[in-house]
Amino acid sequence: MTGSLDGKAVVVTGAGRGFGAAFAAHIAQAGAAVLVNDIDGDRAEQVTRDIRDAGGRAAASAQSVRDPDQADAIVGRCLAEFGSLDGLVNNAALYHEALPWEDDPDRVRDLVEVNVLGVMFCGMAASRAMRRQRSGTIVNICSEASSDRPRSGVYAASGGAVASLTYAWARDLEQVGVRVNAICPPPRTRTMEASRRPDPDRPDRPDRPDRPDRPDRLTLACSPGRASALVASVIIYLLCDRSAGITGHLVRLLGDQLQVVGQPAIRCGELWKVDDVAAAIDGVLPTPA
Ligand SMILES: NC(=O)c1ccc[n+]([C@@H]2O[C@H](COP(=O)([O-])OP(=O)(O)OC[C@H]3O[C@@H](n4cnc5c(N)ncnc54)[C@H](O)[C@@H]3O)[C@@H](O)[C@H]2O)c1
Repeated sequence: MTGSLDGKAVVVTGAGRGFGAAFAAHIAQAGAAVLVNDIDGDRAEQVTRDIRDAGGRAAASAQSVRDPDQADAIVGRCLAEFGSLDGLVNNAALYHEALPWEDDPDRVRDLVEVNVLGVMFCGMAASRAMRRQRSGTIVNICSEASSDRPRSGVYAASGGAVASLTYAWARDLEQVGVRVNAICPPPRTRTMEASRRPDPDRPDRPDRPDRPDRPDRLTLACSPGRASALVASVIIYLLCDRSAGITGHLVRLLGDQLQVVGQPAIRCGELWKVDDVAAAIDGVLPTPA
């Protein structure tokens, strides 16, 4: 049986548990050799063993994504083990909730260093290797970008930064044959489940992502394992050759729908009258049925 990722080598950061461990297993099942990175080396080793026991190819790395030299080492290890770097899944992240006036600067700095700088450092290192190969794909896991989820402003801002990075890097890297996309998964694993509690200041208002009055929220009515498998299918699609040419997009999983956010450039009439704007936008942006 052939897999969509046969012959490819993929790094998954933060793959010692949660979404990352599931992504690594699904990517290996799809035929890729996987470098399982996690700052928790024991967990990375365990996920690596599990993949090998299931017949896949994997190696473990315990480097931290927030350090540029260690990010280089993650990429170097993939090249040394498997001979190429065809995919990078930037999944490692920290999460905490706090009201702005209560947040702790050290926690904020830690979150930004892992969620934003970590993605940048791993992406910079990967782009050097992929540019030499003139091929490769980067998939950034980018949560809650543009979200108004309470107590999560710093986390949402880190997702917003990664979304912007994705759009801009896609333009830079398309000239060397490398694609960059991002995915916003639904809130369904350990990190966020632990934080799903009523807002103590607003007991009348749960303010959780599965609020029935907010059907637009990122929710999947299924188990964490099923949610991971659904997100993994999107990642594998973006990593494999079937998505050739697709770059610079953010894919959100909204209930049973995929929402693809890009940077559509719409030609507008020369005088920019209201009619020109309407003619340019009508039929391009979806309107409610
Ligand atoms: N949990 C959710 O509900 C949810 C929802 C949407 C998106 N996401 C995103 O999915 C991704 C994974 O989330 P999760 O819930 O599985 O997280 P998790 O906390 O279960 O796992 C994150 C992993 O990253 C590792 N890590 C932390 N700092 C690191 C560093 N400096 N270098 C290398 N590894 C490091 C941790 O050790 C951990 O194993 C994140 O990008 C997160 O933003 C999660």
